[in-house]
Amino acid sequence: MPATVLESPRLRLRVLEPGDADQIFALINDFEIVSNLSAVPWPYERAMADDFIRDSAVRAQEMTVICRAIALRGDPGLIGIIDMRFRPDRTGVFGYWIGRDYWRLGYASEALGAFVAFAFEALGMKRVGAEALLENAASLGVMAKNGFSAGALVSRRRPNFGDTVLMREMWLDRVDWERRADG
Ligand SMILES: CC(C)(COP(=O)(O)OP(=O)(O)OC[C@H]1O[C@@H](n2cnc3c(N)ncnc32)[C@H](O)[C@@H]1OP(=O)(O)O)[C@@H](O)C(=O)NCCC(=O)NCCS
Repeated sequence: MPATVLESPRLRLRVLEPGDADQIFALINDFEIVSNLSAVPWPYERAMADDFIRDSAVRAQEMTVICRAIALRGDPGLIGIIDMRFRPDRTGVFGYWIGRDYWRLGYASEALGAFVAFAFEALGMKRVGAEALLENAASLGVMAKNGFSAGALVSRRRPNFGDTVLMREMWLDRVDWERRADG
């Protein structure tokens, strides 16, 4: 997978670098973020950020997950992370988070929109989606703004908290995205 940088009006979605670990740790070591994610351990330790960056390079080579730092244009740092996991039948499943200081500014919506376009145009996906906790209005809002529709309600066991939670699947099919893109 080439290390494509995805661009949107205010953001650059770039490959993670080893030097991002301190900032990832500073931003994600926040219960309000991790409690909405299933794949991120809690409590979060600094070394986990190094592992995450290393793993993301391996997964990109394997073509199992594509991960990008969400960065403000003109700023070398990052404000969050977005990734897409490849599932069978050309389906991509997203995960994302934004550091608390940057919430409610439209950044997650913008990052997801850019990555969805990349997924359909460059990666040839047929369908993309994500799962959000039923009470995660912010994430459901981000997906709704990008044209995702509500799918099934699913019960999931979360490895990080050892509990079982209800999640809402959200999906966007290629044909519907194309129709939206055509205006
Ligand atoms: C979910 C998250 C990424 C949203 O990031 P964000 O950049 O603040 O989102 P946006 O500004 O693009 O919000 C888009 C829409 O979502 C909804 N939304 C965002 N934050 C919200 C909140 N706190 N409460 C209710 N709705 C919210 C709104 O409809 C908003 O549009 P509006 O501002 O025009 O009304 C961020 O809250 C986060 O990192 N949360 C913790 C991790 C997480 O939940 N990840 C997703 C797992 S599925």
